[in-house]
Amino acid sequence: MTQTSIVLPRLGVNLDHIATLRQLRGTQYPSILEAAQLAQAGGAGQITVHLREDRRHIQDNDVKLLRSHLELLLNLEIAATPEMTRFASKVNPDWVCLVPEKRMEVTTEGGLDVKSNFKRLSLVVKALKANGIQVSLFIEPMIQSVRLSAELGADAVELHTGSYCLATQTGPKGTKRIEPALKKIRVAALEARKLGMGAHAGHGFDYLNVRAVAELEDEMAKPLIAEYNIGHAIVCRAALVGMERAVREMVSALIAP
Ligand code: PXP
Repeated sequence: MTQTSIVLPRLGVNLDHIATLRQLRGTQYPSILEAAQLAQAGGAGQITVHLREDRRHIQDNDVKLLRSHLELLLNLEIAATPEMTRFASKVNPDWVCLVPEKRMEVTTEGGLDVKSNFKRLSLVVKALKANGIQVSLFIEPMIQSVRLSAELGADAVELHTGSYCLATQTGPKGTKRIEPALKKIRVAALEARKLGMGAHAGHGFDYLNVRAVAELEDEMAKPLIAEYNIGHAIVCRAALVGMERAVREMVSALIAP
């Protein structure tokens, strides 16, 4: 009997906003590690955290704690600065995702400007890879950014899905922007694949809009996106039903037939 193996996408659960709740009051709780363990029980394949330069949510010690106690893959999002590169090289996460960072933004706005920052990114990618860390670049779903990411030697690109997600969340006004945004994600993911990189996706996903992206396929009917990094929607749902169930529901949303 022949068996076809189904490759499931990896769900990276972003725990930044568990730390946001803790930092709001300066308490010791909620525990990042406990949240990560519950996410694992719910079917997460990875924990993702963004160590911002202003340390507004995740702290250095959270990353160290996760690195030493977590059984799942650890994906550390950082800005491409010397300080963050040194920190990541010491902590040695499985993946680093390089993101643009602005002090005043509420959350990461837009993808990296790979062209303007090519030299700086090149140094950072080299340094991280020399330490055995896999590197992804958080970019807009644009062919030029995908090609430049491949030139930089990135292992993967994480496609910024903000435009698509916003289109799905703004009522009738957004409806006509959904298909073009999805098409951009598909074209960028196919190009990443063609150039030997993984195609990841993240930003703005909820339990409903993630489906259409999970249904994107290549010519062989294989899913195009190998990894999703999702935070806000899962943490919001977890506040109502608990982390384990919130993660399980997102895994189901990703793999529903
Ligand atoms: N991926 C990256 C690179 C991000 O910066 C973020 C937001 O921190 C996410 C994924 C998760 O986005 P959301 O919280 O909207 O799910």
